[in-house]
Amino acid sequence: MDKDTRQAVADGGSGSDGGSDSGRGSAEGRQRLMAEGLTLAYDRRTVAEKLSVTIPDHSFTVIVGPNACGKSTLLRALSRMLKPVAGSVLLDGQAIGTMPAKKVARTLGLLPQSSIAPDGITVADLVARGRYPHQGLLRQWSEADERIVDESMAATGVAELADRYVDELSGGQRQRVWIAMAIAQQTPLLLLDEPTTYLDIQHQIDVLDLCAQLHEEQGRTLVAVLHDLNHAARYATHLIAMRGGEIVAEGAPGDVVTAEQVERVFGLPCQVIDDPETGTPLVIPAARRSRTARVEAPTPLAGFVSES
Ligand SMILES: Nc1ncnc2c1ncn2[C@@H]1O[C@H](COP(=O)(O)OP(=O)(O)OP(=O)(O)O)[C@@H](O)[C@H]1O
Ligand SMILES: [Mg+2]
Repeated sequence: MDKDTRQAVADGGSGSDGGSDSGRGSAEGRQRLMAEGLTLAYDRRTVAEKLSVTIPDHSFTVIVGPNACGKSTLLRALSRMLKPVAGSVLLDGQAIGTMPAKKVARTLGLLPQSSIAPDGITVADLVARGRYPHQGLLRQWSEADERIVDESMAATGVAELADRYVDELSGGQRQRVWIAMAIAQQTPLLLLDEPTTYLDIQHQIDVLDLCAQLHEEQGRTLVAVLHDLNHAARYATHLIAMRGGEIVAEGAPGDVVTAEQVERVFGLPCQVIDDPETGTPLVIPAARRSRTARVEAPTPLAGFVSES
């Protein structure tokens, strides 16, 4: 599916239907990306019901939540890769399911949680696919496309890998190539599903800084799923916490990341202190000894809660 997802973004239909940045917030309270009353399911497995969400324009929205709570499923629905069973996703006020694929791909980019590159493709060629939604009968590959591809590779530190085969890279190198492709798409809205997975700490920070830069300097709207609550609290301008297919808290990181909420959402006792660098919430999980003291009979693998 993720390969299809990537392919759909890269191929993106065949029309040449105008610009990418139109329709910004015309009606009061309306944001560019919204969803209302979503029921999301795979075959008979329902992941979410009556799920509504609004992504604030120009925000860096971060979604957090336990494994299997529906974060990726929500991102897929928001990017038209998963058709809701009920409810609708609105992009610039229009039901996203009714929009031409190429128009969606020029407005909204998705970096899926995992992606498989086509066999034998080089880094430069894969990143260049980010430019496909901008091509058309009347608009061929240009020097500007070339420049954007080069800039995207430089920004993610993969320029020196340009001629290497993607399937011969390390996990972290590959992840940065996919991010470069998503950035090369130059969409005003960018959805990133765990962009820092596989990355060492320096590259995690580089990628998050890059996201912050895209958001602050270019006014792009970013939505990222992150597992690191401390990174989420540092970078998010709007934080959404999910559990069991529902949004259980959202708002400023300082309001959402509290010891009570972290225990409620993740079942993890912790302290939340001020990050000495940024003043944002810093989650310190309770030590094993004090956690096990809280439960009368600790069970093996107690943290691994099976899905319902
Ligand atoms: N392609 C699929 N077919 C069937 N069920 C799926 C599929 N993808 C996800 N699911 C199920 O939907 C639920 C939500 O999955 P989802 O991938 O959205 O979770 P997540 O919050 O992104 O988790 P993680 O943090 O592990 O990435 C899980 O129970 C999962 O098993
Ligand atoms: Mg996921």
